[in-house]
Amino acid sequence: MAALAVRRADFLMALAYATDLATGHSRDFALRSCVLAMRFADVTGLDKPTRRGVYHQALLRYIGCNADTHLLASAFGDEIALRRDLQKIDIGNKPELVEAITRALVRAFADLPPEDLAKAVERGLAEAMQVSVPILSGHCEVAMRIAERIGLSPEIRENLGQLYERWDGKGLPRGLSGDAVKLPVRIVTLAQDAIALTEAHGFDTMKAMIAKRAGGGYEPALAERFLADADKLMAGMDEPVDRETILALEPIPHAMLDETACDDAYVALADMVDMRMPFTFGHSRAVAELAGAAGKHLGLPASDIRAVRWAACTHDIGELAVPVSTWMRAGALTERETDAARLHPYHGERALASLGGEGKAVAALVLRHHERLDGSGYHRYARASDLSPAARVLAAAEAFQTAREARPYRAGLSDTAAAAKLRGLVKEGRLCPDAVEAVLTCAGQPARRASPERLAGLTAREIEVLRLIAGGHTAKEAARQLEIAPKTADNHIQNLYSKIGVTTRAGAALYALERGLVE
Ligand SMILES: [Fe+2]
Repeated sequence: MAALAVRRADFLMALAYATDLATGHSRDFALRSCVLAMRFADVTGLDKPTRRGVYHQALLRYIGCNADTHLLASAFGDEIALRRDLQKIDIGNKPELVEAITRALVRAFADLPPEDLAKAVERGLAEAMQVSVPILSGHCEVAMRIAERIGLSPEIRENLGQLYERWDGKGLPRGLSGDAVKLPVRIVTLAQDAIALTEAHGFDTMKAMIAKRAGGGYEPALAERFLADADKLMAGMDEPVDRETILALEPIPHAMLDETACDDAYVALADMVDMRMPFTFGHSRAVAELAGAAGKHLGLPASDIRAVRWAACTHDIGELAVPVSTWMRAGALTERETDAARLHPYHGERALASLGGEGKAVAALVLRHHERLDGSGYHRYARASDLSPAARVLAAAEAFQTAREARPYRAGLSDTAAAAKLRGLVKEGRLCPDAVEAVLTCAGQPARRASPERLAGLTAREIEVLRLIAGGHTAKEAARQLEIAPKTADNHIQNLYSKIGVTTRAGAALYALERGLVE
């Protein structure tokens, strides 16, 4: 097989999508801001290193903003709604800021009697800075650390550490001012505000607001230059952006990730998603470890094991669309909240849609991670025939890991109790027995059955061949795809036919279909 090579920019688009969800920005906001900021970089004639900085700052500005979101939600309620409000105002303008925070507090404490509500709002306002400054400073630090883990340069990391800094020194975390705020930061802040303000107030009002804020949030010369070309720069800025546009905008050389670098990047993404709330911290990387080990135990092909590991790292990326205040609720969710929460596999698949090649398999698994064999899962109510062995392994690993973790509305189960719960789900026909036993074995639980019969007889290579044959490929084509000699492919086919008790391609295809080996 050819060595894996993934454009890092593809991966950055998944991160951008995730941060758009978490910060309440509109669809493709970060991608559109990348297009706008790079247009602006062209107009201002920036050199290559600065253009590189602009490109990454636009896509990744908010990658640290998941950290400690539970603290933000405890203080201000629905953090996504608050972030949406903050996008429309000048944070350096105290009355505007107080108004936005007051609105959040009123929303958060709406259930209190009027007198208690007034007191809660007063207390919240008094404590607002004390609560938010450490959280926002933490976002900057986390952004820099995640950037390091996906292999970005010290310059790009430094820019990300300045995401809340402003020209007038009223930003965070260090109150830098003027040229001390890096040029890519100044450009991207202006570009992103231009899009958010246009969406909130219209194009003409956006221009008036940018002009008014020159010398405040924005460098005056940059604001002036932007306004002079605003019509041209903002053309088409309300339209979706496709993958190829973002790939083409990346300054050369284009960064590539090999399999090890992809592993690091996926685990960084897992940690970014999970650090939103204390009870999910480390969840996805634990699911990845279990699912990868279980896939191996079952003898799945290497490409499936890789896909299941990466899908496990990203399976809950779509949860970012739902405010932390919902996930942290100890009581029951409303119907509307339940619907929103159950759509997270859909958002997860969308986030990963930009990933070419291998990414498609990862996205397909993420989409199915809460589905059950009997159709009782969500959100598409898929059934056994739509759930591949890798999907079944991911579902089992996710269910086991979640059962042993505490949630606001229940305590975590012991490993033994979690294992019993999963075996109960097998009995009910919801989870795959082979996948569950493989996960439990890899989690150190005593095995209940021998190696699964369904796949145990086939080697990983034979499963790959079987899939291709079942998908209508000839032996010769399968050999070419797997980069093996036609004679070797013939041998694999003969061996697997005799192992599974078939004599024809059609028989093999049906066998594969019955066992969920083809999609
Ligand atoms: Fe999930």
